[in-house]
Formats: sequence, C-alpha cells, structure tokens
Amino acid sequence: MVEQLKITRAKAREIIDCRGTPTVQVDMWVDGMLRGRADVPCGRSTGAYEAYELRDGDSRYNGLGVRKAVRNVNEIIAGEIVGIKVTEQRKIDELLISLDGTKQKTKLGANAILGVSLAAVKAASASLGIPIYQYINTNACILPVPMMNLINGGKLASNDLDFQEFIIMPVGAESFSQALQITVEINTIVGKLLLEKYGKMALNVGDEGGYVPPMTKIREPFEVLTQAVAEVGWEDKIVYALDVAATHLYDKKTGMYIIEGEQLTTDDMIGLYKDLMSTYSIASIEDPLQEDDFEGFARLTKELDIQIVGDDLFVTHTERLNKGIEMGAANALLWKYNQVGTFSEALDAAWLAFRSGYGVVVSERSGETEDSMIADCVVGLNAGQIKTGAPVRSERTSKYNQLLRIEDELGSSARYAGRKFRQPF
Ligand code: PGA
Ligand code: ZN
Repeated sequence: MVEQLKITRAKAREIIDCRGTPTVQVDMWVDGMLRGRADVPCGRSTGAYEAYELRDGDSRYNGLGVRKAVRNVNEIIAGEIVGIKVTEQRKIDELLISLDGTKQKTKLGANAILGVSLAAVKAASASLGIPIYQYINTNACILPVPMMNLINGGKLASNDLDFQEFIIMPVGAESFSQALQITVEINTIVGKLLLEKYGKMALNVGDEGGYVPPMTKIREPFEVLTQAVAEVGWEDKIVYALDVAATHLYDKKTGMYIIEGEQLTTDDMIGLYKDLMSTYSIASIEDPLQEDDFEGFARLTKELDIQIVGDDLFVTHTERLNKGIEMGAANALLWKYNQVGTFSEALDAAWLAFRSGYGVVVSERSGETEDSMIADCVVGLNAGQIKTGAPVRSERTSKYNQLLRIEDELGSSARYAGRKFRQPF
C-alpha cells in the first residue's frame, strides 16, 4: 500500500499527571497505524491570559476530571480531522481553532485541542521515520542550557519562600551531558547542606523536584546554592536565575508586592533585584513583575540589563508578545504550548521572539507526565534554554534523558548553547 500519510483515527483518554490530577492523552493513527501519543501538561502558577483548560466540575477527582475534554476529542474533533494529511500541521491547527471558535478555546477546551495538535506532530514525525526535533527543524542542532530550579518556593512548594524558583544555569559546561552531570552533583551537595542547616524535613521536594526547605528569606536559597557550587569547585561554570512569579505576590487592591511581609512598589522591586544582582551572578529573571505591568517590565529590562523572561506576561500569545516587543518589555519568551493551545500558534510565538531579538526558554509545567516532547521542541527550535525542573522525579528526568539521547544521536553536529543561551546562533 502506498503511504498516504492520512490521519485515519484519533482517540483521547483521561490519564493523571505527576500531581495525580487528570489530564488528556491523545493517540493518533496514520494510514491505519498508531503513530503518535501526546500528553497535555498543566500549570498551577498560571497566568490570567492563558488558554482555557476544560475540567468537568463534577464529583469525580474533586471536579478536576477531563471527561468533557476527552469527549470533545472523540466525538467532535476526531471525525473532522480524519482524512487530513498528518504533515499539514497548520491546516490541522487552523481546523481545531475554527471548530472551537472562541478566543481562549473555552468551547472545546485548550487541553482537548492541544492533545490533538501535539499528537499530530508526533504522528507525522513517526510516519516519516524521523525524530521529532528534526521534523520541527531540519537544522536542529543546539542542545539547551538546563535552567534547574533546585530550590522551590511560591505556589509550587509548601514553605514560606516568596520567590517561586531558585535556579542554577551551567553555562560554562562543554556539552549538555556535562551540564547535567554538574547540576546533579551540585544538587546532591545542596541536599547535604540543607540537611545540616535545616534538618531532614528540608529534603522534601516540591512540584518540580526542587527542595522545599523551611526558609523564609529570599537570600537563604542563594546562600546554600553558592556554597554548594563553591564546594564542588564550579563557580566559573554556573550563573543563577530566578522565576519570581510576581503576579502571585501582587496585591491588586494596594498595587503593592508583598515580599517577606513588607509592601514593595515596582521601584522597590527593581531595587531589590539590583541588590541581589550585586551579590550573586544572576543572569536571568522570569516574571519579576505582575502580568499586566508592561511599562514596569520595559523600565526594569532596561535598568537590569540581563535576560528578563515573560511567562504570565506573554502566555505564549503573539499579541501579548508583540506588545512587549514594541514597548521593550522583557527580552525573552517563556514557551509553554498549553498556554496558547496549538503547536502552530506556539511556533509562531517562538519565531516572532527570535525575529525580534528575544530569547526563548522552552518550559515544562508544574503538572507534567512522562511525555518528553518539550525536549524535542527545545532542540527543534534551537532555543538554547530549557526549564524542566530539578534533575529528579521521572516526569522531569524523562526530558533530560531524551536530551541525552538527542545529543548522542546528533553526535559531532550537536552544539551546547552555553553562555550564548539567549541567542545561541
Ligand atoms: P506552572 O509553573 O507550570 O505551575 O505555571 C511554572 C512557571 O511559573 O514557570
Ligand atoms: Zn514562571
């Protein structure tokens, strides 16, 4: 039989993510063969402008079931996409967008739509017999700097640290595999130091695998991280980063941020970052201000002169990113495909970022599964940076292990982004 690359079937089911929260998994058949399976990730520290995640709201799973989204795939979407050529990603995504017809994908649910969109990418690459990263981009060759949040706070941890993620970036490594080795060795020393300083409760981990020690002051994680890095002897290989997730520290009524119990203005926040930067070599800050403050972001980006990443600010939407680019708000995009709901729209946001001199950080969600698709995406985009948690727990290590396989496959053509993480080519 001549391969026609036609979608012949799509089927969704309800599975659970790493927090035990239901999510959507979609299988896709091409020319009668099962070729793609994709899981939809899910956030907790979410932005207000993200695409809509459809949940059942009934008695099952405390209302978090996704049977409605599953039904929307099986009873509405599947019949419409059968017969389309699986490599026509944009056509598939445009059909999904028009079947839904709403701005934030509230009718069918962005979780239903994204599952189908990602399954198509995977089914297409498998049908062609090529790796996903190569299907995305035939010139894919850049292995990313892993931005590892070794200490967690905010909404992703059960402690009183205000900032969400305290991150190390092994920019001085020679390869991705060496970068991973370095971070694992540092993480082990961080655990040892936490045990000595805070007791064994400090070894519990948060949603993204980072430690959640009983700290209350934002300088405490830096003290431990810098000490661990010094102990391993890799000060010259490591820089630091933060995801403040400031939307969740902002009080809309007063217009102030609450940090360590104090009320801070936007100027105070900028001052605080400058102060931290004068002590620690911080190379990147994500969501340093709340999601509606484009002006504040523009001012801060100019004044701090490091990588400033927009997560809740841009939510992987081209309109919001365009506004940011026009105003000079941030200089990098956090790339999460479930914030927008189709692969093509997420790609558009990444290309717009690159064209405008913005960096792109491909990112996990705090609710992940063993699906390692974002590892292929970060190489496929030649993005140079990935945020996928601490190097523990399988929903995080599945991404790191896939990157090791890709590095192995690419052989001598693999290049590690290193210090050029924001503009790796
Ligand atoms: P989320 O957190 O996946 O819960 O949104 C990650 C982040 O804020 O970057
Ligand atoms: Zn974030």
